[in-house]
Amino acid sequence: MSEWQKTDWRSKPRVQMPDYTNAAALNAVEAQLSKYPPLVFAGEARRLKQNLGAAGRGEAFLLQGGDCAESFDQFSADAIRDTFKVMLQMAMVLTYGAKVPVVKVGRMAGQFAKPRSAPTETIDGVELPSYRGDIINELDFTAAARIPNPKKMLQAYTQAAATLNLLRAFSTGGFADMSRVHSWTLGFTDEQEVQKYSEIATRIQDTIDFMAAAGITADTTHEFSTVDFYTSHEGLLLEYEEALTRLDSTSGKWLAGSGHMIWIGDRTRQPDGAHVEFCRGVLNPIGLKCGPTTTAEDLKVLMARLNPENEEGKLTLIARFGAGKAGEHLPRLVKAVKEEGAKVTWVCDPMHGNTIKSSTGYKTRPFDSVLREVRDFFGVHKAEGTIPGGVHFEMTGQDVTECTGGVRAVTDEDLSDRYHTACDPRLNASQSLELAFLVAEELSALRASQTTRQVG
Ligand code: PEP
Ligand code: CO
Repeated sequence: MSEWQKTDWRSKPRVQMPDYTNAAALNAVEAQLSKYPPLVFAGEARRLKQNLGAAGRGEAFLLQGGDCAESFDQFSADAIRDTFKVMLQMAMVLTYGAKVPVVKVGRMAGQFAKPRSAPTETIDGVELPSYRGDIINELDFTAAARIPNPKKMLQAYTQAAATLNLLRAFSTGGFADMSRVHSWTLGFTDEQEVQKYSEIATRIQDTIDFMAAAGITADTTHEFSTVDFYTSHEGLLLEYEEALTRLDSTSGKWLAGSGHMIWIGDRTRQPDGAHVEFCRGVLNPIGLKCGPTTTAEDLKVLMARLNPENEEGKLTLIARFGAGKAGEHLPRLVKAVKEEGAKVTWVCDPMHGNTIKSSTGYKTRPFDSVLREVRDFFGVHKAEGTIPGGVHFEMTGQDVTECTGGVRAVTDEDLSDRYHTACDPRLNASQSLELAFLVAEELSALRASQTTRQVG
């Protein structure tokens, strides 16, 4: 078999990608991007792979989160800082429940291209091509805005580079200092809300106070002042991905230089399609969304194709079935993994199977459905004796009103107040933190039952 080439996807059937009409403009952008530096390095991608391998064994837990779609308009240092901060707070709460390190991966610095359920959108009798993310076209409902423009890839690269630069500064420049992050109840304003989680909250606070008293602080301990934070996005726009793919001179392997981890969406995981062809050739850890239509046979083919050497941490399976549906779909996939002896990291995305239209006309997700899917996911793994390795959320550090429910009880009527997402509804800071507390409880219970099993 001949060596994989980064252009091989071009001869495979492609879906969900734009038809650029101006070939010369497209070629010029690709040529320019190919000369730009990669955003991430191979050593980082390898380290993330090791961490994800640990999550697959139950020795770490993945927290992956961020916007459904990053936007050019809403790009700001504050938004990046707030999401980063909430993720650190969530990680602290989850560490308490899982009693293992939490691997932090943002849906950031490249999460621009979106698959859509329909190629066109009709409003008041006017039909236009669908919006496909800021890297491709524009959200405005005009014919001009919806034409795919390859130059947007250059703006996406610039924004991704600036985002990553800030994330790297936050991770190592003192912002991640525990003593700053530990005001983790910040997302909750009201005493009562804090009370609800007081047991875990008090224990974490006690631990931090104890360590500080013992002299273990950011000043004395490197681990408390810096954090590893990785980036990820759906590898959907393959012209962009190919242009940023580089040969790693250390290993002689190809690196997708656009982000540490890239994933394949539920709509682009055809085993013989362009997206699987591209992702199979790069050394980065790969995510694969698994939905209600994923068959055991397809999963077996995909695992063999995407992780032929059965490397730990290489393949993360991101289950997204919808509340109440994991019991129907997840066991057949867990069984397929067992039959193949495949090494995978199982992660729950409780967002994408739970999108509904509110009575007020907004695309939303009820907090309770999100929580229920996480619990279903844990339940199946407990029954199968397999390992829930992490969670994947669409969330923001901003105080938006896009998902309903949570302790502050966002209602259908509230959705219009601060509904800012360019695509799917996100959990706000308070809902994200609340979910972290609830997932921590699940993890604690699971650990307790496993300990009992070992003892008994
Ligand atoms: C997404 O993660 O934003 C997404 C489109 O997910 P999925 O492919 O699972 O529908
Ligand atoms: Co989404």
